[in-house]
Amino acid sequence: MKVVHTIEELRDQLRGQLRVAFVPTMGNLHQAHLSLMKMARQHGDPVVASIFVNRLQFGPNEDFDKYPRTLAADIEKLERERDVYVLFAPNEKEMYPEPQNFRIQPPADLGGILEGEFRPGFFDGVSTVVMKLFSCVQPSVAVFGKKDYQQLMVVRNMCRQFQLPVRILAHETVRDADGLALSSRNMYLQPAERAEAPQLYACLLAVRDGILAGNADIAALEAEARNRLAGRGWDVDYISLRRQRDLLAPTADEVAEGEPLVVLAAAKLGSTRLIDNLEICKK
Ligand code: PAJ
Repeated sequence: MKVVHTIEELRDQLRGQLRVAFVPTMGNLHQAHLSLMKMARQHGDPVVASIFVNRLQFGPNEDFDKYPRTLAADIEKLERERDVYVLFAPNEKEMYPEPQNFRIQPPADLGGILEGEFRPGFFDGVSTVVMKLFSCVQPSVAVFGKKDYQQLMVVRNMCRQFQLPVRILAHETVRDADGLALSSRNMYLQPAERAEAPQLYACLLAVRDGILAGNADIAALEAEARNRLAGRGWDVDYISLRRQRDLLAPTADEVAEGEPLVVLAAAKLGSTRLIDNLEICKK
């Protein structure tokens, strides 16, 4: 694997390549990231991964400084898996040599809801860096995880609206045996919190079971899940049932008629904020 730190070296490595498959990350790689890279390998060649902790997508009181930076260990993992041909690991000066004043701003009805409501500017930061990474790597496909469902949607819509010649592939959420979605932020959890954390997924499953059992009272299902988490000491930002196609709230009729749905949640356990989601298809 070639590790490059500058855009110039990256372009040198990729000159003439037309089938690049790309997996952007912020590093601290775990099994889910590695699985995205495996998927990339099935859809293109060469596979390029990036590791860049993107300041633009962190709020002023978020964990940018604290976010785990483990480049040496990440490189070891990638070398062991042998799926990635070029790792692009720019530093801040390389990606943002001057203030990044041109920004991508997703529409408010997609970028301002759910995560975007609780993390203002988050999807501007994500879209801007993904656009910039795409411009550096010029991939023909890029793989994103469903764990960050709204992010996947924002990136898909951005590519569509800007006619970017990049096919966005979605990888299923990778979970630990107890249901907790893998995340770099799980390492912040104290042991007792780690034991409690799978309850988030358990609540999503309960909402899904309610829908599949024919319950179309969305507000009641959401409230039940929220109260269950709150009762166990969670601080819930949202737990919300949405349509898969646009993340807007479905009507009771749509729920009853089998509209493809997704239930999305974000909640804090102590000082660690976790997100998760689950697709629901009545069929
Ligand atoms: P990061 O959190 O490092 O995630 C990189 C990719 O891995 C994203 O597409 C994310 O959805 C996926 N991923 C993380 N955990 C996953 C899991 N348990 N199952 C499936 N996929 C998972 O997401 C980002 O970085 C950044 O916002 C980025 C897109 C790199 C832009 O800075």
